[in-house]
Amino acid sequence: MEIGTDTSKASELLQSGAVVAIPTETVYGLAANALEAQQVAQIFDLKQRPAFDPLIIHLASADDLDLYVKDRGPYFDALYKAFSPGPISYVLPKKAIIPDLVTAGHPTVAVRFPSHPLCQELLQKLDFPLAAPSANLFGRVSPTEAGHVAEQFPEEIPYILNGGPAAIGLESTIIDLSSEQPIVLRLGGLGLEEIEVVLGRPVQFTKSSSSNPKAPGMLSAHYSPGIPLVHGKIDQQIQNANRKRSGTISFCKKIAAIPEEQQRVLSPKGDLKEAASKLFSALRSFKAADVDVIFAEEFPDEGLGRAINDRLRRASVA
Ligand code: TXA
Ligand code: MG
Repeated sequence: MEIGTDTSKASELLQSGAVVAIPTETVYGLAANALEAQQVAQIFDLKQRPAFDPLIIHLASADDLDLYVKDRGPYFDALYKAFSPGPISYVLPKKAIIPDLVTAGHPTVAVRFPSHPLCQELLQKLDFPLAAPSANLFGRVSPTEAGHVAEQFPEEIPYILNGGPAAIGLESTIIDLSSEQPIVLRLGGLGLEEIEVVLGRPVQFTKSSSSNPKAPGMLSAHYSPGIPLVHGKIDQQIQNANRKRSGTISFCKKIAAIPEEQQRVLSPKGDLKEAASKLFSALRSFKAADVDVIFAEEFPDEGLGRAINDRLRRASVA
């Protein structure tokens, strides 16, 4: 396995049918040709991902979108203009050219246009979309650096395209545009409020679960840091815990009772964007720390804070 910045090499490997890890502004992805079921099947194998969990396809722009989706619906154009390329995925009715394996048998496909320059360069070299889930084993924390991918897949993939640390650090916000009303299925790197401003009205958010057919694959037990995590009102619980063996994740304040090296303060200046970009690295970092439990504060319930709370809540479900 090699880590590098050569998009020609990545493109050749993908054209020859291999799986390659790619950088995006949200998280790293494990990519293959979305039009070839056999190549997509390798992704499910590598990730140990259940086949009911559909993948997002990635394109450089919407120029060729009509090859893959039947209908953009009335809201796509305004959202695309405002937010793409960027951290938003659109669920649209799919054409037959997209294999059922990609969409887990659903008649819709999720499409995203990543803004990361190296990813854009790669997508522009390809004449097919890339199916790519986050480049982690199923249920684990999403990778925000090339090194995180290498840790999970040291041998299995030939190449990791290294785009540096992911600027946003949370997966894309997913909006379903396939039925009459737009519905957000997953909170992510783009705040719900920003979408509402562009659409000029409130947008429904469906809390997703494995039993919700609208958001397949959104299992509640996800983002496992491998150590028990408590999320919410943590002050009292910290007082009662073994503080020498406890870790904390907080927004901007230090937590007096806990040794400094076991604390992850995500943004001392109180910036939710900065906090979001550091969340997954922080979750990972406790593996090397000597702690038995992680206490994670509730973040402000607005903008990216809502997506951070969503990931922490799911990390807390063992
Ligand atoms: O930022 C991201 O979205 C990253 C980067 C790599 O692009 N990708 C990512 O993919 O987070 P993944 O596989 O970890 O999450 C994809 C989720 C699925 O679990 C499912 O909830 C939703 O997207 N999804 C995909 N296709 C869908 C569809 N047709 N209908 C409803 N939800 C869908
Ligand atoms: Mg994922």
